[in-house]
Amino acid sequence: METVSILLYIFLFLSTLLSYPFIRRKQKGGLVKRSAAYKLPPGSMGWPCIGETLQLYSQDPNIFFATKQNRYGDIFKTHVLGCPCVMLTSPEAARFVLVTHGHLFKPTYPRSKEKLIGSSALFFHQGNYHTCLRKLILSSLSPDSIRKLIPDIEAIAMSALESWSRTQVTNTFDETKKFSFNVGILSIFGHLDISYREKLEENYSIVDKGYNSFPTIIPGTAYQKALVARKRLNRILSEIICERKETRLVEKNLLGHLLNLKGERGQTLTEDQIVDNIIGVLFAAQDTTASALTWILKYLYDNPRVLEAVKAEQNAIYEANDGGKMPLTWAQTRNMPLTYRVVLETLRMASIISFTFREATVDVEYNGYLIPKGWKVMPLFRNIHHNPEFFPDPQSFDPSRFEVAPKPHTFMPFGKGVHACPGNELAKIQMLILIHHLVTKFRWEVVGSQSGIQYGPFPVPRQGLPTRFQKLSSTTALQDVTLN
Ligand code: HEM
Ligand SMILES: *[C@@H]1O[C@H](CO)[C@@H](O)[C@H](O)[C@H]1NC(C)=O
Repeated sequence: METVSILLYIFLFLSTLLSYPFIRRKQKGGLVKRSAAYKLPPGSMGWPCIGETLQLYSQDPNIFFATKQNRYGDIFKTHVLGCPCVMLTSPEAARFVLVTHGHLFKPTYPRSKEKLIGSSALFFHQGNYHTCLRKLILSSLSPDSIRKLIPDIEAIAMSALESWSRTQVTNTFDETKKFSFNVGILSIFGHLDISYREKLEENYSIVDKGYNSFPTIIPGTAYQKALVARKRLNRILSEIICERKETRLVEKNLLGHLLNLKGERGQTLTEDQIVDNIIGVLFAAQDTTASALTWILKYLYDNPRVLEAVKAEQNAIYEANDGGKMPLTWAQTRNMPLTYRVVLETLRMASIISFTFREATVDVEYNGYLIPKGWKVMPLFRNIHHNPEFFPDPQSFDPSRFEVAPKPHTFMPFGKGVHACPGNELAKIQMLILIHHLVTKFRWEVVGSQSGIQYGPFPVPRQGLPTRFQKLSSTTALQDVTLN
């Protein structure tokens, strides 16, 4: 099955390559004059056209990246998925591309994916439109906006946990996806009618399946079904927008901000722009957070001593809140140092966004090497997070390493620069809240012994981490507290 899809990919890229305007030789302006002074980075480009795509996909991609880094160092060229590209594995290089020289590189995604999410979503853009939307999204996801959501996030977490404990075996990744989706909906719409929520969730999950499948024009395939579901999402969102406009309430949530945005000359966003950005945020929020949560559950289960310490920290808060009768406060979510380090160490270990893609918009010189215009550039976050120079014994899960702050620019689970994750505070608080309710009122046991990782495309433990959840009776919970 996997081989078939790899072959399909190769076929697709071969055909697109026939029309690929290879590296253009005539280059006026740009940051550097193409000259003998700058050479391409070391590395191999593999076979004509296919490049090294097979090597990348026939094994764990991290092995590919690590092998290359050992062989060539911090910067090397390769050719994958139909594009010549330069991969970067040092914090300085990542900073160069994402921060200090971010204006020379633009985001780049396959057209098929852009079509599913909607081409006006902010992460496809650079410049004024991006800056303006980003400011708006940042303010709707700022700590000030999020603190008001705590009671609702708690309610979503509790109802998720209750339902997992009523199930024999829970697919943790599938279920945490529902959780992060609901939190995403909450931050976008505030309260939303259950019937809208269900329609959105059903149709969005079809889009999600298509996103990770092979893009083709053949009807009946996952990709085509996804495109159709995406059109239905347009209609549902358009209805919601219409209702919200009628009520004319100035709402503080993301949709409210999008509807009220006025440019300098009074221009507003079109409905397509609003819809694409809502789908874009849901997309950016769901699988990433769910994948991180799934890893947290696995690491805590595999490391009983860390789990005991987290329980002690959370039980103290639970007690302070009169046995969970009072809601969590903002201050409490900000003062869970041990649990917070578990979150950080999980983000490092799992490196959910293992790398990102940019494209050089001009010829760029970096450390004496040429990055030609049009080439893809990939900062490899995972390599940085697993470099023993920055994180000793990188393969071991050790939250205490975050008792001291990591060296500057060596830890970027949420990216860096103008496209860095605006949802990072919301992501972290929903993880902390779920952990709080999980460890104070439930126990869990991972079922089966399959180890290994699946990529879909984010790394997740195999089979989504099948888990049995059990709710503790209040007396057991209390005993647990006194024992600790
Ligand atoms: C653990 C969870 C998450 C991780 C690890 C994560 C990671 C990232 C990273 C690395 C980027 C930058 C990508 C790049 O530079 O190419 C990014 C961008 C983004 N993230 Fe997140 N994210 C998470 C959760 C969220 C949540 C919960 C939201 C929204 C509610 C969100 C919304 C976004 C958006 C809108 C962007 C694009 C920003 C832009 O292009 O200006 N993310 N995320
Ligand atoms: C998708 O949305 C439509 C409304 O446009 C709704 O009737 C339908 O039940 C939703 N779910 C699926 C799986 O199509």
